[in-house]
Amino acid sequence: MATKHILIVPGDGIGQEVTAEGKKILDRIAAKFGHTFTYDDALVGHAAIEATGDPLPAVTLEKMHKADAVLFGAVGHPKYDNDPSAKVRPEQGLLKMRKELGLYANLRPIKLFDELLEASSIKPEILRGADILFFRELTGDIYFGEKGRKNNGDTAFDIAEYSRFEVERIARKAFEAARTRRKKLCSVDKANVIETSRLWREVIQKIAPEYPDVEVEHQFVDATAMLLIKDPKRFDVVVTANLFGDILTDEASQIAGSMGMLASASIGDGTCVYEPIHGSAHDITGKGVANPLASILSAALLLDISFGMKAESEAVIEAVDKVLKAGFRTGDIADAKTPKDKILGTAAMGDQVL
Ligand code: NAI
Ligand code: MG
Repeated sequence: MATKHILIVPGDGIGQEVTAEGKKILDRIAAKFGHTFTYDDALVGHAAIEATGDPLPAVTLEKMHKADAVLFGAVGHPKYDNDPSAKVRPEQGLLKMRKELGLYANLRPIKLFDELLEASSIKPEILRGADILFFRELTGDIYFGEKGRKNNGDTAFDIAEYSRFEVERIARKAFEAARTRRKKLCSVDKANVIETSRLWREVIQKIAPEYPDVEVEHQFVDATAMLLIKDPKRFDVVVTANLFGDILTDEASQIAGSMGMLASASIGDGTCVYEPIHGSAHDITGKGVANPLASILSAALLLDISFGMKAESEAVIEAVDKVLKAGFRTGDIADAKTPKDKILGTAAMGDQVL
């Protein structure tokens, strides 16, 4: 029996809707397993800008540092997406959170629940058995380097930077994870063209001999984009830089059936943050149709990684599996054969898992 303090940070758009379901599941787990979970919540993103002018207010950051774990939703608002001149933006809150908490490794497990074989646009025989764990570096690369304009604004630049230290610390996490799985590590870069990628490859090559039991493959990111869809089963653990990982995991979400199925854990030096990989999805915000399973599965990762509660985490995944086996679907994972009465909204899906 444990006592833990969880900070709930729903953010914007469907972040609000799906995080409520993730919290519901955490509550049920506490009751079922005799734990005491206490909660607080905090503002981030557009909601925080509206209230305080700051996408990551100091009070939010302070609460994050103090919490045992954070369940996060998403940030974003249409008003910024089409206004390149906006100086204060919701995403700045997300990036600052990652930097301030030292969340350098974003773990994104890509696993298809068997029941969803037909929901994907990829052929079932290509998908069956696919099970990939992405390690996306989260605090470096082009997202954090110097950016700006020159030539009276007619030229824009973003600088990508990686240090040996940054590459090595995420690479070691990935090697260690590969050891507990099928012992294959694929490092994705663009070392034929990009200097940060050349350093990336150099570091992986240098430490690989320390993990002789792990088979290492280096791939160029453009080839990975193709191979993920052609033959997802060839991948076990994938480690890559921030930008490549961002793009490849949205692509990989189709292996799991939908963006609404993919959970993630951001780990680092202090409090860890658990969040769906999707954004605030303005196109479906307020309709009550968002798939809450990514948030619920993020809660399962939280229980496992931050609290060491393996049985509790597995109970959540098992419940999701049962709900899918019973035929319940949100719209994004429904197929032509799903009966109308089995297509549920966000809260009803959360209730089924409960
Ligand atoms: P998005 O991930 O929000 O949505 C992409 C597509 O997937 C949309 O059609 C959406 O309806 C669908 N989708 C996403 N999550 C779903 C769910 N749980 N259930 C059912 N369908 C789901 O990406 P988009 O539309 O490019 O960006 C929307 C906003 O989110 C932008 O402001 C963007 O900056 C922000 N964003 C925030 C992220 C974060 O907070 N981590 C990550 C990505 C985008
Ligand atoms: Mg993304």
